[in-house]
Parts: sequence; structure tokens; C-alpha cells
Amino acid sequence: MDTADFDPAAFADYLHRHETKGLLRFLTCGSVDDGKSTLIGRLLYDTKLLFEDQLATLQQDSAKHGTVGEDIDFALLVDGLEAEREQGITIDVAYRFFATEKRKFIVADTPGHEQYTRNMATGASNADLAVILIDARKGVLTQTRRHAYIASLLGIRHVVLAVNKIDLAGYSKEVFDAIVADFRAFAGELTFETLQPIPLSARFGDNVTERGENLGWYDGPTLLQHLETVEVAKDESARPFRLPVQWVNRPNLDFRGYCGTIASGRIAVGDEVTVAVSGRTSSVKRIVTYDGDRPSAGAGEAVTLVLADETDVSRGDILAAAFARPDVADQFAAHVIWMHDEPLMPGRAYLFKIGTRTVAGSVTEIKHQIDVNTFQHLAAKALPLNGVAQVNLSFREPVAFDPYEAIPGTGSFIVIDRLSNLTVGAGTIDFALRRATNIHWQSIDLTKTMRGEAMGQRPAVVWFTGLSGAGKSTIANLVEKRLFAMGKHTYLLDGDNVRHGLNRDLGFTEADRVENIRRVAETAKLFVDAGVIVLCSFISPFRSERRMARELMEPGEFVEVFVDTPLHVAEKRDPKGLYKKARAGAIKNFTGIDSPYEAPEAPEIRLAAGTTSPEELADAVVEYLRSHGYVSSD
Ligand code: ADX
Repeated sequence: MDTADFDPAAFADYLHRHETKGLLRFLTCGSVDDGKSTLIGRLLYDTKLLFEDQLATLQQDSAKHGTVGEDIDFALLVDGLEAEREQGITIDVAYRFFATEKRKFIVADTPGHEQYTRNMATGASNADLAVILIDARKGVLTQTRRHAYIASLLGIRHVVLAVNKIDLAGYSKEVFDAIVADFRAFAGELTFETLQPIPLSARFGDNVTERGENLGWYDGPTLLQHLETVEVAKDESARPFRLPVQWVNRPNLDFRGYCGTIASGRIAVGDEVTVAVSGRTSSVKRIVTYDGDRPSAGAGEAVTLVLADETDVSRGDILAAAFARPDVADQFAAHVIWMHDEPLMPGRAYLFKIGTRTVAGSVTEIKHQIDVNTFQHLAAKALPLNGVAQVNLSFREPVAFDPYEAIPGTGSFIVIDRLSNLTVGAGTIDFALRRATNIHWQSIDLTKTMRGEAMGQRPAVVWFTGLSGAGKSTIANLVEKRLFAMGKHTYLLDGDNVRHGLNRDLGFTEADRVENIRRVAETAKLFVDAGVIVLCSFISPFRSERRMARELMEPGEFVEVFVDTPLHVAEKRDPKGLYKKARAGAIKNFTGIDSPYEAPEAPEIRLAAGTTSPEELADAVVEYLRSHGYVSSD
């Protein structure tokens, strides 16, 4: 685990002692059993970084769990967790640090198991170099290609192709050459600056830190030699200055500092800076660090900037060089890697964290999915686990950014699920979509309040959700008749009806249901704007989309009505005979049968529709609208 063995104080001390040396961050990736952990263990062991007592434990552990007989099992050194040992896979990112005379190293050991692309991306996000492991007996696998692709997408420019277990392939030059040729043919499409293939045996130590006697035909560097000497300096400080503001430090009225880690460029006292979105400009008065005030600072350093003028800056803003500002936009072309079992759905609302800013937004379109083996473009309606795609994004509000190619620190983002708060994806911004930013709101003099008042009502959406056959449409229909009789202005949007026109192109896959609800919610919003009370009757099985619909409206404008009929009652009613067909397998993705229904957690109104008559339930809804001031009784 990334925190289990991590002692911040020891780490700080370690960094301090080695401050004068260069630092190389690298990650290892490969398929299960390729021997990553063994390789890292070997590196640590051979660079003599193991303490005596750690070695003793290791020898005992090897006897207990080991898979290599008499020898020390180096994998045990790195795979910290019992669970991992038992499953024989590594399940999270483990960070280690070690040093030689020439360099210090931080290595992220990332898992190769199919589901753990997320961890690989976590480990890759700061790395300079990737060691991609290949089992000499298996050659280049889909996993290998995916790892190389993700590494490239995340901006890693240096790759070591470690052809491991060469001992099991008879130390064969032919095998090595064939694998290297195979990988090069594929990696040619990716933008790596260096690609160093090395034949090695992590288990026996050939070419890890010592040359292998059995590999006389190989005249390149050993892995450690290469890691010690490869030139990776990315000249971040040559790029324009960017400081995503992490927090505003205001201990008293006399001090206001903007804290964060410099993402790119350099800054000096007296330099002009701009607050990216607002465009306000000031100059730097002080640069405060842990070691006191400094005249200047550069990429990677944590600083607190004090500006010369009172400027409105908050967490999530970017302070930027005034002469080279970031772009500001709310629509983008981007690449996304998906890391969650539940596929990415276009139209679904997610949170996007870019720099220190978190905004709501959605993927408006999957342009194409990318086959990481062939680079072919595939059509896709949703993006599955481990999928990579080119997409269009839309954020709810404009953000400052740079194209990823120009400045990685302000051009990449992670995607967060709104309900679970899990990181479900990561991506890079290619460019802003200008056509969308050229559209402005046309101001209209009549407001929705004026329209509503003229009709003697407060416009709102009354959203009925529940299973097919729950009674949504029956109740909504009765409610509408009652409101009409009271002289109110209403409209009823109903699933079956809307699917004959506006949404006739949509079916019942998860992706289509998301789009169905998105369009209906947008339509309902227009009705609300027109001053109308709009009744919506849709299964709307997913919490995400009901929440999206709610958030589209202003507070108080969304009344969620859960038509709570148990499945067995709805199925017994079966008004359209659809449950019978679904049970027989004639209809796919039927809600409640082979497609989920996520019940509302906190609806404004819950109707026990299995036991009470529709008339009484309709009365309850009208009463709610009356008592909450949407309609008056006269
Ligand atoms: S929703 O899930 O996207 O909100 P919606 O309310 O528009 O669904 O449409 C549901 C109606 O479509 C049902 O009342 C039923 O008549 C019909 N229908 C046809 N196939 C399905 C299916 N696979 N699942 C649910 N409803 C279906």
C-alpha cells in the first residue's frame, strides 16, 4: 500500500541527505507474474538498502510463502500485504525509495492485474520513466501495450523494456530481438524520447545491477546503469509560470498568501501575475517557503505567494505569468482512460478535478474508443473499464487550463464519481472547443417568476420515478387533471410518449437511458422557464440522472415523487404484458428484471403505491404542492 510503509519524517530526512543528487521517479508495470516485485526487491537488495532485520524476516517469510525454493523471494519484500501474497498479485501502488552514489530513486510498483489500471495511472502521474516488464516466454501482451499506451498518455517520455525471465528462454538473443522488434513496431506510434530494451533475469540478478555472464551477446547498460544515467530532465521551468492555488492562507488581516505547488515555470519577486479566470493582474511582493522568504522559485516547489495588490483569488484559481496566460473554456476535446467497473456514460454528470479546481461536468460525446493494441478507432456508446477514448467534455463553468502537450500540470484531470467519491477516470485536455464558447446567453426581459405569477403558480418539475407498472403515469395523469381543474398551467412529459418523438432514437441500454433523462430534464427546464408546472413520468432508474435533473433546476423547483410499488406487485399488474416478455427473455434490459432500479434515498414525496388507490395518492401530491406554495387553493 502507498501509505503502509511510508514514514514522512524518514522520507524527508532521506531526501535531505541526498539533496545534492538528482532524483529519478520511475514506475514498474507488467502483467501478473512478470516479476515486477522480484525486480524491485533485487534492486533494493543489490543496492544494499536492506537492513539486517528486514533480511531476516524475509528469509523466514520466503520459507513460509516463497515460490522459489531455497532462494530469497524478493517479491515478498515489496508485496506488503498478506492478502496480496495469498492471491499472488500486487493490488496497490507501493512506493519505495533507494539511492546509489549517482542518483536517488523513488519507485512506484504498480499492479499488472486487469482491474488495476487505476493504480498504474496513480503511480504514473509523477514518474519520469516506466520500466515495462515482459516475460520472455510470453512476449508482448495486450497488457504490455495498454501499459505503454497509458504511460504515453500520462506524459512519460522514457521507457525501459525489461525482458525478464530470459533465463527461462535459454538466454536467447533471438527471443530478445523478436520481442524488441514487436514492441518497437507498436511503440513507434507513441511519443517516447528514449526506449531502452534490456534482457534480464530479476531472479538470478543478470543485468539488474550486475552484468550477466549468460548474456555476453548484450552490450547495452544494466538496468541500474541505465536508471543512473538516463537523461530525463523535463525543463518545466522553461515553460510559463503556473500556480494552481491550493488554499488561501489568511492568519490575520495583515497577511494574505496563496499557497500551492508550482506546476510549471519560475516566479521571482516583482513578476507580474494574472488570476487566470478573472484576468486580474498584480505583482509578486513576497515568495514565502518553509525555509523563509526567497527571491524566486520554480516548478515542483511548494510556495506561498503574497501579491502587491488586494486581489480576489480563491482555492482552485490559477496564478499565471501575465505575459502567457492559460486558456479559459468550458468545452474541450480530451483523452480519457476509464478505471471503473461501471462504464463511463456520455451525458452523466461527474466531477472533474483539474489542478486544484473541481467542477461538475460530463462527457458530451465519445468520438471513438481507441484499441490499444492496434490504435484502431472503434465506435462506442459507453467506455468500459480500462477503455481509452477521445471525447468531448463539457464543464458547468469555465476553467483555466493549458493543452496537456504545452503544460501537463494544468492540462490533465481526474474524473470523480459524484456518489461514491471514487476516482473513476483520468485524462488529458487536447484543446478547447471554440464553437461552443461562442454561444452566449441571450437576455430575455420576461422572467420565469413573472410568467409564473401571471399564471398564479410557482413553476416546478414534479418528477415521478418508479418501476414500470408502478402507477407513475396513472397518478401523474390524475394530478394533472386536478391542477387543470384548479386553473393551473401544466404539462405532462411521459416516458412512453416522449419515446415516440424527441427520444425515438433511444432504447433501454444504460447509455440510452442516461441520454433519455438528460433530454427530458433539459426539456422540463424549458417548461419551468415558461412558468409551467411540468409533470415528468419516467422510470428514471439511476440516482445519478435524477440528481442531474434536480441540479439543472433552481433550489425548490424539483419535487421528486417516488412511486414505491414493490416489484412483485408491479409484475403482477403487468399492464402492458412487458414483465412476462422480460421474464421469457424476449425483452432485454428490463428494469427490475435484468436492469437495476436505484430507489430514491430522500424524495420529497414517497407514495406507497402498492396498497393505496391512485386517487388518494394524487390527492397527496396536490396537497404537497398546495402546502408548499406551488399552487394556491383559490
Ligand atoms: S427510462 O428508464 O429511460 O426512464 P422510460 O420511462 O423512458 O424509461 O420508458 C419506460 C417505458 O418503456 C416502460 O413503461 C415500458 O412501457 C417501456 N419499455 C420497453 N422496454 C423497456 C425496458 N427494457 N425497460 C423498461 N421499460 C421498457
